[in-house]
Amino acid sequence: MTTAFAAAELRPIHVGDGTVTILDQAQLPYRVESRMLCKLEDAAHAIRAMQVRGAPLIGVTAACGIALALIHDASDSALAAAVDMLAATRPTAVNLRWALARMSARLQTLPPPARANAAWDEARAIAEEDAASNHAIGEHGRRIIESLAARRLPIAVMTHCNAGWLATAAYGTALAPVYAAHAHGIGVHVFVSETRPRNQGLLTTWELGKAGVAHTLIADNAAGHLMQRGAVDLVIVGADRIAANGDTANKIGTYLKALAAQANGVPFYVAAPGSTIDWQCSNGRDIPIEERDGEELRLVRGVPAAARIAAADMPVANPAFDVTPAALVTGIITERGVAAAQQLAQLFTNE
Ligand code: MRU
Repeated sequence: MTTAFAAAELRPIHVGDGTVTILDQAQLPYRVESRMLCKLEDAAHAIRAMQVRGAPLIGVTAACGIALALIHDASDSALAAAVDMLAATRPTAVNLRWALARMSARLQTLPPPARANAAWDEARAIAEEDAASNHAIGEHGRRIIESLAARRLPIAVMTHCNAGWLATAAYGTALAPVYAAHAHGIGVHVFVSETRPRNQGLLTTWELGKAGVAHTLIADNAAGHLMQRGAVDLVIVGADRIAANGDTANKIGTYLKALAAQANGVPFYVAAPGSTIDWQCSNGRDIPIEERDGEELRLVRGVPAAARIAAADMPVANPAFDVTPAALVTGIITERGVAAAQQLAQLFTNE
């Protein structure tokens, strides 16, 4: 079911009491449509089809999927089946598993009749905590941007993929510092890489345009050249999973940006909430990398429709994420402050 989406509302998901409404990101930036999720399968489909995307938002949607499932059946077996179905939707973003583990831990201790209401409360709490974390990330990151203002204004920030409010419950991760700086009257200009093959960069330009933040869309391959020419003051990207040693999985192409940043002395920051850190995963080699449908490479989506640029039987590889070694990361911006990638655990000593 689709409905008009209120342009002033900057949240990609609304968790009501028994209802969930999402902004359908598979249609953006060409069509602005919202969609109601009515059952577990709708939530699983929304994550799989990338109607919702971005690590924190996937986690919130998975939590909602559990709440939707328990409306009809709150038994132990229904809860376990819902967790299994949602866990299988996308492999890399650890927020999905984090949210499912949190929902299970909360609900398993309750008698089945009490579970449905508790599930909605917990899903809303996950969304609100994500919003609060991202707001804090914005403030910590703003200070980093501010510290570079003596160099030149506007400060040139490069980002990759979409880690704005669309990818989270609110505010975004990598874009939160940009929005905070903009709100404080600090001039920022954002270089947005296209992020082939799905072009999530267009989601970022759409967001930045709505917020009135100056930006330039670039081809992914232009990033190194711009850094070499001194056009970029810092890079801020989001994360889908950060290993305990600081190795960071993010959208494919992030690693190349980190290499170019290091080669050109450009600070490279990762912005992510604690729910994106996988303390069980010791290093980036253990992070599962999602392999996506080859048609994402063979077809280009746009207006009015998709166009084929490679034959349907063209052999392709389509890994959706890559891992940036901790050594290439200047710092990780979290809700608890900023730490060198290898020192991340010091910010989360009670985890
Ligand atoms: O495949 P996506 O669009 O879900 O991937 C999202 C990203 O990789 C984003 O860059 C982001 O950093 C992680 S979510 C804030």
